[in-house]
Amino acid sequence: MKSLIAGNWKMNGLRADSMALIEALKAKAAGSAPGCDVLVCPPSILIANAMAAVAGNPITVGGQDCHAEDKGAFTGDIAAAMLADFGCSHVIVGHSERRRDHAENDAQVAAKAAAAHRAGLVAIVCLGESAEEREQGRAAQVVTGQLAGSLPPSANGANTVVAYEPIWAIGTGKVATPGDVAEIHDVLRAELVSILESQGEAVRLLYGGSVNAANAHELLRVPHVNGALVGGASLKPDDFWTIVEAAPH
Ligand code: PGA
Repeated sequence: MKSLIAGNWKMNGLRADSMALIEALKAKAAGSAPGCDVLVCPPSILIANAMAAVAGNPITVGGQDCHAEDKGAFTGDIAAAMLADFGCSHVIVGHSERRRDHAENDAQVAAKAAAAHRAGLVAIVCLGESAEEREQGRAAQVVTGQLAGSLPPSANGANTVVAYEPIWAIGTGKVATPGDVAEIHDVLRAELVSILESQGEAVRLLYGGSVNAANAHELLRVPHVNGALVGGASLKPDDFWTIVEAAPH
């Protein structure tokens, strides 16, 4: 399965910074064509600029969130169809920062993923346990529950990516060990196959949480790791491109 390396820029970057970042990534892609799929997810207000900048380049652009409804009176929100209309291919849903700061639960995440599918987008469904849940030995149980609750009936291998992001590893510099990642990705793959049958084999499983230029090579070779969702390191073009080049192909 071809790897996907996705950069989640979160709420970072003014226009000039973001355009400099995208130009640097374009130059790297022109220098050596990536052997994996490369996605950047800028803040929504910068998507149009990012999209125009990557025209004709293998780098694709995605959103960081969408609303569960197709349109309507939802002040401040963005519909999946609007992201698709601007040329986005993917949208992240259920990131732990959205679950924490916007009280999004599994059912809402599933509804957002369904909205993404209706708009023709690939939904990157995020899940992951807290430090407390891991200490209690409940990590596998928590993520399988989140997976079952966050996948809509429309999910299949082509329109859905699952990102395992242990909350304690996000933005902390504490990275899960390859052994921890292997265990959870194994469990998630089995659960995907049990929910989606043969389609479950085709869903890409990303690891996210303090992925950086130094640890990417090893993490990207863990069984059932089909790519990475990268936060902090995606804002540094050299580091992000080192991760892109570390992907097996
Ligand atoms: P991080 O973020 O790489 O900065 O830990 C990952 C994410 O939140 O997607």
